[in-house]
Amino acid sequence: MTFQTLDVAVDDGMATVTIDQPDTLNALSRQVMNDLDAWFAWAAAAPVVEGVLLTGAGPKSFVAGADIKQFKDMGPEEGKAFAERGQAVFSRIERFPKPVIAVVNGFALGGGSELALACHMRVASKNARFGQPEVNLGIIPGYGGTQRLPRIVGKGLATELVLTGEMISADRAYEIGLVNHVFEPEDLMEGARKLLRGILTKAPRALTLTLEALAASDLPVERGLQYEAALFGQACATEDFEEGVDAFLGRRQPEFKGR
Ligand code: COA
Repeated sequence: MTFQTLDVAVDDGMATVTIDQPDTLNALSRQVMNDLDAWFAWAAAAPVVEGVLLTGAGPKSFVAGADIKQFKDMGPEEGKAFAERGQAVFSRIERFPKPVIAVVNGFALGGGSELALACHMRVASKNARFGQPEVNLGIIPGYGGTQRLPRIVGKGLATELVLTGEMISADRAYEIGLVNHVFEPEDLMEGARKLLRGILTKAPRALTLTLEALAASDLPVERGLQYEAALFGQACATEDFEEGVDAFLGRRQPEFKGR
């Protein structure tokens, strides 16, 4: 499967998906959005993909936002449809049944920041910059920024970021919980790989069920707890659960099968 705007490499269960449009600092053109949508739809059911590292090509940018050229002469109906399409693509990534880590190697602005927010975790290089500069263009974040950013960093800090449109450094993003780890640029990919590799040694069905349970953490807590209990029950029906417990009691490493 090849894509016009993505470079994809799968190695030992880990897919590295690189948005490869360096001339526009990997801006999210319609084609990039279509390619991301198609790849994540395919990979959700592809056993060869156990987890994803999502990054941008070149040393400068993860994704510098939506492709601003598309905004020329955009009217209200078209604008709403544009936001809904982007939200649908990013929700597919958020609901992806296997771990997705945004590997932020430079600018993550506007839709780029929102793309990172839709991933399950974020790691960044020291030179990364995050921001929601939409107010500079007379618009608002439309790919989930007003909804996911407050859920991740809290409403007060999110409000400042979206109202000022200012960029923050990787270190500041780490301080406010927007990224999980910051690496020197040359160590970024290996740091991200190590994080994902460690996660992928765990029971695959348990990872999927955990992601599903975490997705319910936006529900009222009583409903979220009911959902968690139901998913816990599902985990108990897996062979890997039996294997994990037997391995612990037998003082050996588990051999998970993903069943
Ligand atoms: N959409 C379309 N093209 C973009 C883009 C975007 N979001 N961001 C950058 N580009 C293009 C530039 O137009 C430029 O193209 P050109 O070489 O044909 O002129 C190229 O990418 C390089 O960008 P440039 O602005 O020259 O780099 P810089 O180092 O001076 O500045 C940024 C980098 C990221 C600060 C600047 O490009 C920027 O502010 N981009 C827009 C960010 C934004 O507002 N995103 C949110 C959109 S809702």
